[in-house]
Amino acid sequence: MPWLIVLRGTPLSGKVSVIALDGPVASGKSVVGRELARRLAFRYLDTGVMYRAITWLALRCGTSLADEESLGNLANRHPIRLSGTESNQVWVGEHQLGPELRDARVERQVSLVSRMPQVRRVLVQQQRTLAKEGNIVMVGRDIGTVVLPNADVKVYLSASPEARAHRRLKDLVDQGQDVDFQQVLGETIQRDDMDSNRADSPLRPAEDALTLDTGELTIDQVVEQILAQVHRC
Ligand code: DC
Repeated sequence: MPWLIVLRGTPLSGKVSVIALDGPVASGKSVVGRELARRLAFRYLDTGVMYRAITWLALRCGTSLADEESLGNLANRHPIRLSGTESNQVWVGEHQLGPELRDARVERQVSLVSRMPQVRRVLVQQQRTLAKEGNIVMVGRDIGTVVLPNADVKVYLSASPEARAHRRLKDLVDQGQDVDFQQVLGETIQRDDMDSNRADSPLRPAEDALTLDTGELTIDQVVEQILAQVHRC
């Protein structure tokens, strides 16, 4: 049926080509970012997977997580390769990573690795290269402030620690983990503290970011508000 053309989204005629989406853990960045990318026919890149991949590699190679120089060298020697429109195929060295990126050891240690300036320098460079082609929604903690300060649209998603802990609890229970709300709330607050109080590229909204509270809006409402901003630009 040659007349049947299925569009993956509605490509923009105008200027917006790079969207930076930041926010704390479980603020809804991934689900919003993916939907936004789908609606705009953009690529989607979750930069958290890059920090997770280096953490996984360091654990596998026995690199000390306290040794910043070795971690920086490791990241430098093993550029991360991403493929698929949602960058869901993640390669580091000869390893293709999937569920490993979310395993408990990586989960526990990734904040330590991601606070190291020498690691960040390498990964930020890779992220900027990936954004060069445009038509991308890039998700992380420092995209609007550090990685892509000239992004066409910047969004910061927030929600209370309780609302985010409820979301994480549901995900973890769905994965079969035996956790309770207080434990997840404690971990969420601890993660916020590490991400927001590190010296290099702390989590914070860019001055020109549109800030949306995902505890008060549905995912659809969040996506619609971002699209309205995109079409205003
Ligand atoms: O979003 P996430 O949970 O997959 O992120 C994993 C870790 O990487 C977390 O400690 C925050 C950090 N991170 C970061 O420092 N900068 C980014 N651009 C993305 C993630």
